[in-house]
Amino acid sequence: MIHSEHDVLIIGGGVAGLTLALELAGHRCVTLLRPAQDDFGASRWAQGGIAAVLAPTDNIEAHVQDTLIAGDGLCDEAAVRFTVEHGREAIDWLIALGVPFTPDTTTNAVYPYHLTREGGHGARRIIHAADATGKALIDTLLEHACRHPDIRLIEEWQAIELLEDTQGHCRGALCLDTDNQLQLAAAQDTVLATGGASGLYQHTTSPAPACGEGMAMAAALGATLMNLEFQQFHPTCLYDPEGSPFLISEAVRGEGGLLRDIHGVRFMPDYDERAELAPRDIVARAIHAEMLRHESSHVLLDITHLEAAGIREHFPTIHAHCLSRGLDITRDPIPVVPAAHYSCGGIATDLQGASNVNHLYAIGEVACTGLHGANRMASNSLLECLVFARSAAQALRKGMSDSRREPIIPHMEHSFSNVNSGPAYNESIDQAFSAMREIMSRYAGIVRSNEGLAAGEESLLRLDRECAELWQARWQNRVPSLALSRLHRALGLAGMLLRVARERHESRGLHYNRDYPRHGTSVPTASKTTLVT
Ligand code: SIN
Repeated sequence: MIHSEHDVLIIGGGVAGLTLALELAGHRCVTLLRPAQDDFGASRWAQGGIAAVLAPTDNIEAHVQDTLIAGDGLCDEAAVRFTVEHGREAIDWLIALGVPFTPDTTTNAVYPYHLTREGGHGARRIIHAADATGKALIDTLLEHACRHPDIRLIEEWQAIELLEDTQGHCRGALCLDTDNQLQLAAAQDTVLATGGASGLYQHTTSPAPACGEGMAMAAALGATLMNLEFQQFHPTCLYDPEGSPFLISEAVRGEGGLLRDIHGVRFMPDYDERAELAPRDIVARAIHAEMLRHESSHVLLDITHLEAAGIREHFPTIHAHCLSRGLDITRDPIPVVPAAHYSCGGIATDLQGASNVNHLYAIGEVACTGLHGANRMASNSLLECLVFARSAAQALRKGMSDSRREPIIPHMEHSFSNVNSGPAYNESIDQAFSAMREIMSRYAGIVRSNEGLAAGEESLLRLDRECAELWQARWQNRVPSLALSRLHRALGLAGMLLRVARERHESRGLHYNRDYPRHGTSVPTASKTTLVT
């Protein structure tokens, strides 16, 4: 095992991790772990944009109220206000860095950049870079981070476990490098920016989203996890059984796209007066119901009534991707289906991204700040990444490196040897991952039931028992496998999600249980959970 010392260790190089690194560099020494895997997660694939109050016709209170309504009674209002109030300065920071946002060139423009609309927003407030905002952000932030002399960017390490000292404070991470060597990265402060847990499900909107590894690693150190049951399914992922996952941005509906059933009949006005621009939980459930009603594998998103040139200009990425799959979206309706997209729950943090474990921070999708409540409003997540990364940077700037920190506790997993795991183990790990995703999609998807949640818990326990041989290998120094470590974390987190979903005896936001179809009668409360071993 190779030991190294770091000041601030940031695990994850999406929008949140990169923003924090840039805001902290020059004040503290930053090590940023950004494995190649990070380019297949949520940030780079985000299409829509960033919600912020930018137009003079919009106002803070309106954005706050829209967020609270979408969150269905479970948002932390202080977190909502904090985020919305710091939106504009975060956008100005990005513009100064050179992010190529789409300009508004019309003569009656109220703001220099084009602002689009998405579900739940009562105003045009989404700033975007055509339909590839995440890519534009990552490219710009990464370019700056690579050039910064105070940022050490490591692509070869992946964290598999957090380290703790004898006081229970976080002290960095144990990592595996690309040569399968263990790297013990001791740090003064550790920040998780590892993304959400949509990878617990079969169908997702980005090619390889995180499976909640960061949440599970934090829970193992005693961090509180909050609101895990609120898993968001994006209503419109391209239905393309042979292709890789591809999102059709909500901005398509924002610019006038209409949802139709498989026979071409528009249905959203029957479900909600906001029709296609209702919050996502409502639209995803409506699509689910229509698919069941017509026994269809998908519904249709129709923009053929919009001008073809405008479609190509606003949605060049979506247009090109669909064309490459044999579909011209200017002429044909787009087959779409809901898919796992965003975890509203995660590591409970304060307004500076601090968890309840000393020296452990969490930012971005891995965190639960209270902003999203029971249902995240579109494009509030990139805003949250930026605002909380910047506020965590302020808190961390004040923190001093402390050479008197307590010693790190040796942990079982540190004793992994370097023996390679071999194809048989890898195959078993893949099979177990598929089985877990099948269980989660079947029992903890858009519509849940008491019976289904109980069956899901039982099936997961059975799967865990079936993995006994793998776990044994894990503890017997035989398998220093990243995949095995991820599987262990994912199964643990999936179990926690099912448990809190079962304990919520109501339907709220993204958690819909047909045995409790309405809100509960008591004051809505966030679910909090810690690891049960
Ligand atoms: C989208 O473009 O629809 C995704 C935006 C988001 O999830 O916030």
